[in-house]
Amino acid sequence: MKLWGGRFREPLDPFIEEFHASLSFDKRLVLYDIIADQAHAKALAISGVISEELADKMVNALEEIKEEVKEGKRKVKGDEAEDVHTLVENWLTEKIGEEAGFLRAYRSRNEQISCDERLYLKEETSLIIQGLSSLQGMLLKLAERHKNWKIAGYTHLQRAQPLLLSHHLLAYFWMFQRDKERFLDTLKRIDISPEGAGAIAGGKLDPQVKANLLGFSRVFENSIDAVSDRDFILEFLSACAICSVHLSRLAEEVVLWSSEEFGFLSLSDAVSTGSSMMPHKKNPAPAEIIRAKTGRVIGSLISLLVILKGLPLSYNSDLQEDKPPLFDAVDTLKSSLKAMEKILQNACFNKEGLEKSLEDYLLALEIADYLLEKGVPFRKAHFIVGRILLYAREKSKKFNELTLEEFRLFSPLFEEDIYASLSFSSFLEKRNFPGGTGEEAVEKQLQKAKEVLSQYG
Ligand code: ARG
Repeated sequence: MKLWGGRFREPLDPFIEEFHASLSFDKRLVLYDIIADQAHAKALAISGVISEELADKMVNALEEIKEEVKEGKRKVKGDEAEDVHTLVENWLTEKIGEEAGFLRAYRSRNEQISCDERLYLKEETSLIIQGLSSLQGMLLKLAERHKNWKIAGYTHLQRAQPLLLSHHLLAYFWMFQRDKERFLDTLKRIDISPEGAGAIAGGKLDPQVKANLLGFSRVFENSIDAVSDRDFILEFLSACAICSVHLSRLAEEVVLWSSEEFGFLSLSDAVSTGSSMMPHKKNPAPAEIIRAKTGRVIGSLISLLVILKGLPLSYNSDLQEDKPPLFDAVDTLKSSLKAMEKILQNACFNKEGLEKSLEDYLLALEIADYLLEKGVPFRKAHFIVGRILLYAREKSKKFNELTLEEFRLFSPLFEEDIYASLSFSSFLEKRNFPGGTGEEAVEKQLQKAKEVLSQYG
């Protein structure tokens, strides 16, 4: 049974019927649709459109349907109705008969679908935030476990300066923290009720009543905007895309770091795969898949941006196509967050491999700063250190293997104390400003991260 048809003489072409139907994907919203229907039945009774008894009958029957769906007794195949709204109403008609038709009073599917999506996203957003917290917890654990382990930091993928490994890991903690804040902020725009907007002009029921019944914090300001707005999904998908990009960058580091060339970490068998041809291979495939799935999530955001571009107000059937990319992004992001957590849980850092990256020349800046502190303009000091580096390379010596006489070939300002600057520990000690990579600074950062994690949960 359809929710329309009186003005049609011919049936819909069977192919077009299937082409246009959305139940195969919007069935995922079934529980939210039932909840919204229950609120509508109550709102109809509150404003005197239907009797309290009929509203109770509808609410109870819908409750039974909800339980049956939850328990798996009532299944949605996906082709038994045009969309999820029609399906739920058909089920209600099966339960209470023709009176179910009163549920359509003062109601349009245009407001209904936006309501279902908003209820769905309120829940999914908190699940994603939980997934992010869990991943952040894993990063914190790793940062704590490897306190004071040193590693080369890279810029341009070239060794740049010494760092603490925990500092590097915590960089991801803060990236995921920003993701979480973005999702929380998006939630403010998700949490607006479109109910009462009708098809476009606004219904005859007080929108505030349904917003209260459904637990929305706010009500739409304009009925036209309410039925055509998908900004809340765009924002949500943007947050998903940015978060996926963060996951992809971390995945890329896992791939690089687990290579023999880097040798910074090894992944346990639980998160590695093999090659059908090369018996020796152990591949970081799950991390590669996370990297690839980011493309899908970005694709979802782009799909919806393109769907919306050029749409006149207000509701257009194009909006029906917002759901496949939305659902795909939700599933993809949630599974990627979980996979990344498992990968990190199964990653074992290799102290020797990390220390190998700490080449002596990473301290070049320390020598330039030494000269700067003795009154040499930095540009000149930079040039001098460049020359010292060329000299040391020629002699196959490390900086701290050069004699004072050799240092003095380049500047008379060098004294015995230059050697105190030529260690990784002294480099780190000088970087204890807030947010720096010194041991004390990173300890404070760890404490702050723990606090932030416990605040946001
Ligand atoms: N199935 C539609 C969607 O997913 C909702 C129905 C919109 N109204 C209409 N007259 N077709 O957006």
